[in-house]
Amino acid sequence: MPLNLVLLLLPLSPALAWLPVDDWDSANVTASGGGQDCVCSVFLPDSSFPVDRVQHMQQVTADLRLEVEIQISKLIRYGGRLDAFLSELKDLSIRVVMLESSPDNYVKLDFELLRIELREFEALVFQLKESLNSSSPALDALFAEIHNMSLTVDQLETFDRSNLLVIRIEFAKLQKKLEDCQKEQNLLKPDVGNCNHTGIMSISKPMVLQINAHLNPGYQYGGWGKDSKPVRGSESMYWYGAYNKPAVYEFYLYSDYDKLIQRSSFTHHGLPQGYEGAGSNFVVHGNAVYYQAADPFRMSKLNLTSSVYTHRHITKASQSFSYAYSPDQHLDFSADEEGLWVLYATEEAKGQLVVAKLDEAAFGVEEEWTTSAYKPLAGNAFMACGVMYATRPGDQNTEEIYYAYDTRTRTERYMSVPIQKLQERFVNLHYNPTDQRLYMYNSGYYVSYSVRFNTE
Ligand SMILES: *[C@@H]1O[C@H](CO)[C@@H](O)[C@H](O)[C@H]1NC(C)=O
Ligand SMILES: *[C@@H]1O[C@H](CO)[C@@H](O)[C@H](O)[C@H]1NC(C)=O
Ligand SMILES: *[C@@H]1O[C@H](CO)[C@@H](O)[C@H](O)[C@H]1NC(C)=O
Ligand SMILES: *[C@@H]1O[C@H](CO)[C@@H](O)[C@H](O)[C@H]1NC(C)=O
Ligand SMILES: *[C@@H]1O[C@H](CO)[C@@H](O)[C@H](O)[C@H]1NC(C)=O
Repeated sequence: MPLNLVLLLLPLSPALAWLPVDDWDSANVTASGGGQDCVCSVFLPDSSFPVDRVQHMQQVTADLRLEVEIQISKLIRYGGRLDAFLSELKDLSIRVVMLESSPDNYVKLDFELLRIELREFEALVFQLKESLNSSSPALDALFAEIHNMSLTVDQLETFDRSNLLVIRIEFAKLQKKLEDCQKEQNLLKPDVGNCNHTGIMSISKPMVLQINAHLNPGYQYGGWGKDSKPVRGSESMYWYGAYNKPAVYEFYLYSDYDKLIQRSSFTHHGLPQGYEGAGSNFVVHGNAVYYQAADPFRMSKLNLTSSVYTHRHITKASQSFSYAYSPDQHLDFSADEEGLWVLYATEEAKGQLVVAKLDEAAFGVEEEWTTSAYKPLAGNAFMACGVMYATRPGDQNTEEIYYAYDTRTRTERYMSVPIQKLQERFVNLHYNPTDQRLYMYNSGYYVSYSVRFNTE
């Protein structure tokens, strides 16, 4: 599926405001998530707003002004209100232009006010006729035109009633559908923090937010997500970092979803020389970034509160085995309901993934489990409820969670849960226990999925 065809709107309700006015006559909104697709369409009726009548009215207004100008030269001695008359007429024509140019203004247009102005106009011309004290064909025509314009306004209002009402009803229906969709998704969302289930059952369709904040599809190596154990006040924070090579130089933080979308970060951390990272599987946990330092090879923590760096060597972790699409990825940080983990392959385990639980305070390995997932064949791996899940490439648009290792029971199992991808290559697939979602950096795009656990 080409990326530009994926229209994704999140949060759902403000989506309506995004619909460009040009698309009003056939606006489709697609919202996907929770394994369900919600497609909502709204079509306007055939009879659309009578632009031709507005144009006619505009022409009439211009003609009127010209005629009035001619009359003014004749009637200058009766002056007084003529200047006001002219400027009123000008106002009126501006308002009619507004009618035509912007449906937003047109919605706000007060037809009653327009009609009152026309009536005043009519009275004014009547007065002029009186003062002239003779029958003037030009003024008679002017009078007729103004009368005609009143009729046009009446008709426009009728059109407005029927059209705008239909639009409003259709949009109300659309909004209702989207709300239902959202409710359905919420229903699918299991309890955050609840691990009383037998593992991942399914992964929703991808939610594609947008291209990375550098607006650069060449920035293929990086990641995005939310803090998996946010400090107070940072619950809605998002993070992002990427580069065109599997090297890590910087991280951006966004106060909330909207700021992420607007690419408006509240802070940026550039890694100082000698502290640069490699690979892409970094995460933010407890307001600290955990990443793999490039040289010397070790795990690093950047405390975002204090900007203090801490480093630890993991001597067992091999630098010979990386994930399928993620070069130089020797340490893969992951966080779940149970805390912080790091995944790596060892020479001892011949390239199979080892799960290590990290002691956050000491920033050291607490315990290790050796799995039988051979890392170079895996697309990526992540932890959820103490279980390591490994993926492998399926076809170009599908990745498969094929393996699970439960650290609580020390048991493994093979499984097949598909994950739909937009582009074949991705990095930094990780789970976030605060919203039970998977975050993926898919060829420079922010993608996320909701995870459905088997609670049967
Ligand atoms: C909206 O959806 C309908 C039905 O699926 C389709 O025929 C139409 O082309 C779509 N319009 C747009 C603008 O995508
Ligand atoms: C208007 O015309 C009437 C007769 O047609 C005349 O008696 C009156 O004086 C005129 N008034 C003005 C202001 O010219
Ligand atoms: C009134 O408007 C209609 C079209 O809206 C036009 O055909 C007609 O000639 C107009 N009448 C006058 C007196 O301008
Ligand atoms: C876990 O879920 C099962 C089935 O839904 C239920 O019978 C059991 O009581 C739950 N256990 C706990 C500790 O909530
Ligand atoms: C980060 O630094 C702050 C302030 O020194 C400290 O309170 C906090 O525990 C640190 N966080 C981590 C994850 O090390």
